[in-house]
Amino acid sequence: MVEIFDSSVELAQAAAEYFVAQGPETVALSGGSTPKLMFQVLAGQFRDDVPWSNVHFFWSDERHVPPDDPESNYRMANEALLSHVPVRTDNVHRICGENPDAAAVASEYEQTLRDVTGQALPRLDLIFLGLGTDGHTASIFPGSEVLNETERLVAAPYVEKFKSHRITMTLPLLNNGASIVFLVSGAEKAEIVKSVLQGEHKYPAQAVNPTQGELIWMLDKDAASKL
Ligand code: 6PG
Repeated sequence: MVEIFDSSVELAQAAAEYFVAQGPETVALSGGSTPKLMFQVLAGQFRDDVPWSNVHFFWSDERHVPPDDPESNYRMANEALLSHVPVRTDNVHRICGENPDAAAVASEYEQTLRDVTGQALPRLDLIFLGLGTDGHTASIFPGSEVLNETERLVAAPYVEKFKSHRITMTLPLLNNGASIVFLVSGAEKAEIVKSVLQGEHKYPAQAVNPTQGELIWMLDKDAASKL
């Protein structure tokens, strides 16, 4: 399903409303800059509409940096949302990017996901994802070996373009989600949105197809302008 909104503000509002309506107990937050507005709407307008202490927060991916690094997806979510609402701190499961051993971070996070959900293959209630202009999502980039992963829930690929590792949920975990929401905003994404939604299958984002779940693309008008 594709939903198009007049502005990034209306996109954020709709995504926040969806979060509230879904009432997730387990949610994976996306990284990058797009979700920030949604986080702020949740922390503001919907602060009293979510049973925050019941929600387990995960991340669909993280940079290989400490939690106070400007690049940290956890830091952005904490500053925009988590530090403003009454979450249970032991329900905030950040990816420990400060550990120099990225592979160990990935396997530890995989164990955390299994421990918290009690499932060998966790079925997260709600997963947010973004879309890069190269068609990557989470930290699954074009040509990545992670695209072929069938067993692991979390991987730590080295990403050449950033000359660093990333930690990312893999397709087996993502595609087991109950609801997956792509949030895409801005004219710079219009070309890749058209390619991903209407073009031939060759981008990582096109490999996200929940086996038994809902897939929603929430776009603002600029990002949808070439559809
Ligand atoms: C990250 C991501 C990544 C992001 C897209 C879009 O850690 O960067 O999770 O997949 O969602 O690159 O990023 P923007 O929202 O900044 O355009």
